[in-house]
Order: sequence, then structure tokens, then C-alpha cells
Amino acid sequence: MGISYHEKRGFWVLENGGMAYVMGVDADLNLHHLYWGKPLPYPGDYPVPVLPEEYGFDSPLQRIKEEYPPWGGMRFKEGALKVFYSNGVRDLLLHYDSFHLTKEELQISLVDPVFDVQVHLYYQLHPTLPILKRWIQIQNHTPGDLMIHRIYSACLHLPRLKQYRLTYLSGAWVGETQLTQTQLTPGKKLLESRRGAVGHRFNPFFAIDDGRAQEDWGHVYYGALAYSGSFCLLFEQEEGLQVLGGINDFDFSLSLGPGESFTTPSFILGFSQSGFEEMSQHLHQYQWQNLIPRRKKPLPVLYNSWEVEGFGVTEKKQKELAQKAQELGVEVFVLDDGWFHRRDSDQRGLGDWFVDDKKFPAGLEPLISYVRDLGMGFGLWVEPEMVNPHSLLFKAHPHWVYQFPSRSSSLYRNQLLLNLGLEPVRSFIKKTLDTLIGRYQLDFLKWDMNRHFSEPGAMELPEKHQQEVWYRHVEGLYEILDFIQRRYPHLIIEACSGGGGRVDLGILPYIHQFWVSDNTDPWARLRIQEGFSRVYAPRTMGCWVTDSPHWLTQRVTPMDYRFHVAMMGSLGLGGDLTSWDEKEQELAKEKVAQYKQYRELIQGGYIHWLLSPREGPLTAVQYRSRDQQSALVFLFLLGEHFGPHTTRIRLRGLQEDWLYQVEGGEILSGGALMERGLSVSLHGDFSSALLPVTRVLTPLE
Ligand code: DGJ
Repeated sequence: MGISYHEKRGFWVLENGGMAYVMGVDADLNLHHLYWGKPLPYPGDYPVPVLPEEYGFDSPLQRIKEEYPPWGGMRFKEGALKVFYSNGVRDLLLHYDSFHLTKEELQISLVDPVFDVQVHLYYQLHPTLPILKRWIQIQNHTPGDLMIHRIYSACLHLPRLKQYRLTYLSGAWVGETQLTQTQLTPGKKLLESRRGAVGHRFNPFFAIDDGRAQEDWGHVYYGALAYSGSFCLLFEQEEGLQVLGGINDFDFSLSLGPGESFTTPSFILGFSQSGFEEMSQHLHQYQWQNLIPRRKKPLPVLYNSWEVEGFGVTEKKQKELAQKAQELGVEVFVLDDGWFHRRDSDQRGLGDWFVDDKKFPAGLEPLISYVRDLGMGFGLWVEPEMVNPHSLLFKAHPHWVYQFPSRSSSLYRNQLLLNLGLEPVRSFIKKTLDTLIGRYQLDFLKWDMNRHFSEPGAMELPEKHQQEVWYRHVEGLYEILDFIQRRYPHLIIEACSGGGGRVDLGILPYIHQFWVSDNTDPWARLRIQEGFSRVYAPRTMGCWVTDSPHWLTQRVTPMDYRFHVAMMGSLGLGGDLTSWDEKEQELAKEKVAQYKQYRELIQGGYIHWLLSPREGPLTAVQYRSRDQQSALVFLFLLGEHFGPHTTRIRLRGLQEDWLYQVEGGEILSGGALMERGLSVSLHGDFSSALLPVTRVLTPLE
């Protein structure tokens, strides 16, 4: 178990209870990928690295599964690394050189036999979860510059399966993270972002199975890239399937001077022996243990008035909303866009991060004191990477934005993107945020990003470094977030990019929750939340209850349905509370209290999608505590056809022989709840229910 080197067989085995990953070196010093999947009983069960004969038009190198294939020699598939040496050679060979092994980490070093360039492959096996973290470092020891045109974080090879079914998250603004499946066929498939950020279209996650895996059955191979910029996941099927992933090489290059090195973002890969649900649970566990910032308390219930006031925030209305929010049980009050200098629309204001004296003549202090006197924390919205041309900041520093000489920069949402690769820009943002957080003693910060890259020129960089801007921006973003987090460890940070355009594992160590989508219509939201929660832990899923009819879809839904959907992650309220009648306020109060009762289970438990919203009128989602003592089942009925919708749903993940009380129902064993199932009945369009299930110690008669 763990990581071991088997000298006689020339391979390394990375193995824990759930997964084995094996690589080895052949006599010609090529590093082969040998195995990924279920651990086998003996080391001798794994294949040894042998270089095959050439066959037809395929060279031996084309026929093996190379662990990290460079572009060079007789290779015709997509490679993971492409370089350009200073003497004009564009061919890279990588031969095995050495390895270094500690208890948790393996480093395998490859070298070019002619040029002094080293490539280190890193592997960190999780001690218990079948999850492996991989990344690459390249070192240039040649006397000249090394141009890198592509450097992916990993190349993965899937075992031979009858077919390769790809599961991924695709979507668009107000329709993010839709669970999508397709069968791969010979050729290539690309999931990518060229936007400088991950964006709403594709998420840097994938899963592959043989077309038969279910929620709780079948082998699933999966991976996710920990990177918040332009990424790519490239699937290439010839005889087998290889998956390459990392920083998108579109308009990307990197110049390494003599003695310089570069380290890629990490790729997290895993293997599930029991279907998609186990994959999600392992990914969530990994996030809790390795990525999400440590926090003893669950995330608070928040209020945000964006849907109510938009840019037209007023102190009077904010106070009224705060008063109501407090009565309903809200814990943090967040002032969204519109609070800063001349921010009356999206035309101006970005960059001038001081309070608008027309809207708040006495500053923000009176509102903040009001909120605090009500016993709530206070938070602010910011979009620090952006500037409006109509701003004092832009007037003072027109060269701080990405731009090409002799071209004007395109406006999107009337804004431009600041070049975070520039040190003065990073210092300005750090100072601005430090002042805001310190001055107002903020408890919460919503970091938004509403524009992607265009004209990505960085005036300060020499030509050979121009195409590094994509990567430098993301590094700058992480640097600022890291600074803020270290200085204000209590601060809760929400990552947002016009909803769920910045959802990835790379940013997770710096933030606590994601704003999942600007679409808060509960029915649409169920599908968005389904895809999201397959990969990202429910705790990170920010959800609001807003008004009905919904501003986007015009759909009318009952309040408890809206609450139940928003209670599936980190709950927030975003409606006009002052317009909710007494009955609605009573219900809202009750639901917020109920959420608080169960939020540890929701935010920290396992999620089981028992019936998907993609499949039928009834959706059933079960949250289960990690110790299996309790569960909470959410039920949602889209529409009633011919009378009440009555069915049995089979719970999952309980202890067979423990007894459980279903609130308002009978006591049954875990086995019965999972095999016979639970009888449920919902009546009426958009009806919903919440069923708590708790372990009891009373013996069954
Ligand atoms: C986009 C976000 O997704 C919204 O929640 C809101 O913060 C607006 N930006 C504000 O401009």
C-alpha cells in the first residue's frame, strides 16, 4: 500500500485501498503508463513496460501509452509538452532519469538526452481516498531561452473499455453546470475555455465509464483540473482513449530563461468502483480535507438584495431589508453592486472603491451599525479585476488594462479587465480590499467577475512573454486572494463570475462558497445544482430564495418549494422581504430555523441524487451524515398529471441493521429503507417536502 518501487519489474505502484496507478520504464528509457483502476492482489499482476514492434504505420512510441508524451520523434497523437529550443530545434525527447520517493509523494524525472532540460512528474496519492494529485515542473538548464508552446498538467490513459462514455458539465450563463453525457468515438473531443477564466460553458471536470455505470454501480474514472483560467481537456480516441488536460495552449506560450522553471496547475484524478455517487463523495471528501479553508462553524445564512434593488441601492431600503432579514433569522447582510462611487448603472464606478456619497451621504457606517445592532454580520460586493473607462482609476492609470498598441480595447458590460500580472495593479487591489475589509470590519466579501479577456496584450512585457498573460492573471488572482485570506482568516469569501463562471478546484483553497448561478428560479436551479453538486461539495453551493414570479423565467412557484431548493446548499435570501406578507414571513422564519437545524448535515454530509430532475416529474435528493446517524430527504414534484404522485423511493448509504425513524412515519431498518424504500406522496404542481430520517435505539417489534 502507498507508493512503492519494484526494481525488478521496473515499475512504480501507487496504491491505496480503492485505486492502483502504475507506471514503468522500458529498456529504451521511455516512461509507460501501465495501469489505472481497481487494485490487483499482487504486484506481479500488473503489466511490465515493454516497447512493442512497429506495426503498419505506427512506430513503437505511437503504440505505447506514454505517461507524459512530448511532441517529438515518431509520435502523431496529441502530446502533453511542446517546446522550441533557442537553436531552432522543435523536437523534444524525454528519457527517464531518476526518481525520488517519500511516503506520500513520488517524483519521476525525465530529461532530454541532448538539451539540458528536466521535466519532473509529481504524484501525491491521498492516504485513504482513491485520488491522485499530479502536476509537472519543467527546468531549463540550457544556456538559452526555452519557449514552451504547450505544457499540460497530465496525460491520462483509460483502460480498454467496450465504449467510452464521457460525463461532463456544460451550460451557459443562467444555465450552468448541466450534467451532460455523450459517447466518445474515434477522433477528438475538446472541452475548453479561451476566456481567461473557466466561464459558464464547460467546467474543468470529466468522468469516463463504459456506458453502463449507474449512481451506485460500475467503474468510473474521473479528473478535475485545479485551475481558474483558460483550460482544456482533450480526449483522443484511437484504439484506446487518452485524456490530456491543463492550461489551454490556445494563444499561450511561455519563455523560460536559463535556470528558470515553471510548475503547472494540479490535476486531480480518481477512480470509483461503485458508480457516480462514490465519485462525488470522494471528490467532496477530498475538498473538505485538502482544499476548502478550515472553518469550525458552518456557513451563515445570508441576505443579498441584488435582485431587489440592482444598482439603485438606497440606505432606507437596505435598512428595511436588514430589519426583515434579521426577523427571519439571517446572519450576514450583504450589500451587492451599486454602493460605490457613481455606480448608478454598469456604465461607471468600477475601480473607484469608495462609498457613493449621493446614495450614502454619511458613508456606509450608519447602515453597517444598523445591521450590526440587529446582530448580523456585514458583507460587501466587489469586482476588483475590473475598471470602467468612466472612472477615476482609469483616468489615472489607462495602461493598467490589457490592450494591444494600435487597437482599441473592446468593452463588455462597459468594462475593461485590469492586468493582474502588473505588480502595481496587484498592490492597488490588495490595498483597496485591505482598506475596505479593515475599515468596515467585513465578515463577507463577494468577489465578482463579469467580463472575459479580449485584446490580451500586456504593454509591460517583452514580446517573448506576451502570451503568458493568461497564466499570469490567474497567478495574480491567487496571490491577492491569498493575501486577503491570511490577513483576515475569519472573512468568508464568495467566488462569483456572473453566477457560476468561476467554479473550479483551483480557487477553492481561497474561498468558502461559489455563487452558482444568476438563475434563482427553483426549477431551473435544481438541474444546475444537480450538476454542480456532483463535483463540488454542497457546502460551497450558494443558493438564494427569491421572489415569485421569477424575474427570468416568469415562473410562479410556492415559497416552500423555493426554500427547499435553496436549502440544499449554503442558504441565502434574495427576495424583497418587505413585500412578503405575514404568512410568507412566518413560513420563511420557520424554514430558516429548520435549515439551521439541519445545516451541518447539509453542508457537511454526503449527497445522493435518488431521482434526478432530468428523469421525471419527481426529484428526490438525500443528504446523509457521514456517521450514517441521520439523513434528510428533499422531494420536489414538477407537475401533477393524474392525481397525487405516490411512489416508493429507495434511500442509500444507511446502516443495514440500524433503525431509523422517518419523521411522521414508521420506524424501519436501514435495510428496509434501502430495499423496500420509503413511500412518498406529493400533491400539486411544484409541491415539495422535507423528510428527516434519524437513527433510533428502540428495538423493532
Ligand atoms: C453578477 C452576479 O452574478 C450577481 O449576483 C450580481 O452580483 C451582479 N453581478 C452585480 O453586478
